[in-house]
This record gives sequence, C-alpha cells and structure tokens, in this order.
Amino acid sequence: MSALSEALKEAEKKLSEELVATPGHVRRVLFWCEKIAREEGADLEAVKLAAALHDIAVPEDRAMHYELGAKVALEALTKLGVSREVAEKAAHAIRAHSRYGGPDPETLEDKVLWDADCIDACGAIGVIRAVLRELQASRLREPKDIIPALEKIASLKAYTRAGREELERRRSFILKFIEELKRELAASGEQL
Ligand SMILES: [Fe+2]
Ligand SMILES: [Fe+2]
Repeated sequence: MSALSEALKEAEKKLSEELVATPGHVRRVLFWCEKIAREEGADLEAVKLAAALHDIAVPEDRAMHYELGAKVALEALTKLGVSREVAEKAAHAIRAHSRYGGPDPETLEDKVLWDADCIDACGAIGVIRAVLRELQASRLREPKDIIPALEKIASLKAYTRAGREELERRRSFILKFIEELKRELAASGEQL
C-alpha cells in the first residue's frame, strides 16, 4: 500500500465519529488539493499527504488540531518511509491550514491546502458543515444563529488562482443564502 493510502486509511479511521471533519471532508479536500496543486505546480506528493492528514488530530485536540496534527503527520510520514523533505512540507501545510489559529499560509503547498479546505467550508456543502459545526459547539438553536458563521465563511479568500474560481462561485452562493435567510426572517416578523 502506498504512503498516501496508508495515511488516508489512518485518517478515515480516526475521523469516523466526527461530525464536521469527516472522512468525506478529507476526501474532498484531497480532490481539490490534487486539482489545485497540478494547476499551480505545487509538490503534489506533499500536498496530497497533507490533505489526507490535515484534520487527523481533531478528535484529540479540536482547538489546536493544526499544531498537534503537524507533529503527528511528521512522525507518521517518516514511519511510512516518506522523505524528510516531503514530510516537512506536508507538516508545514498542516500547521498553517486552520482558519481558527496557527500561522498564515506561506509556501505554495500551504496555500493549496488552505484553499482546498476553504472550498469545502463554502457553498452548499459549507452551509451544511457550518450548521453541523455550530450545533456541535451548542451555538445553534434558531435559524438566525447561523448567520455569524456564514458571514465568516463568506469572507474567506483564496491564495491561488486555481482555488479562487471555485471559492468565488461558492462564496456568491453563501451570500445569496444569507440574503434569503434574512429576508425570510424579516418577512416572518423576526428582529435581526
Ligand atoms: Fe482543520
Ligand atoms: Fe479540514
């Protein structure tokens, strides 16, 4: 089995109970990482391994999963026989992938993972994942409670040209969704 298949298998096992950082999320991020990396000329091996392992530490340390995930990934990839250079690139991208903390993306590989993760946080998929995230954090009881999370998602920016097109498309959907939600709530006599 290749290092990527092993890493993916390990991540899917770890994330099998997760609501938001699910195995499906990991596979979609991997898909977009591969597509963007090819178009931008990033290190394909490093980016794919980073995608597979980027949320692996979520069940253990949700708040700082980018930091712990980078450490876990470096160890796991070294054990799987991945070169030091590629493993370090992947760990660097994992450390810089989170919108909730950690360093900003710096290298091309960091930017590819960031954009792929943002794409899956946005659009129709993003609405569903935001609802699940807010429910999980006990911040959602009424429809209007989702608005701050959606507004945050709508402010996401892509770093790569290849990621920008899909993110912009999904961003305009989110903006329309927020507009319609506000219209329905106002039309129902709710104060916003
Ligand atoms: Fe993450
Ligand atoms: Fe993620």
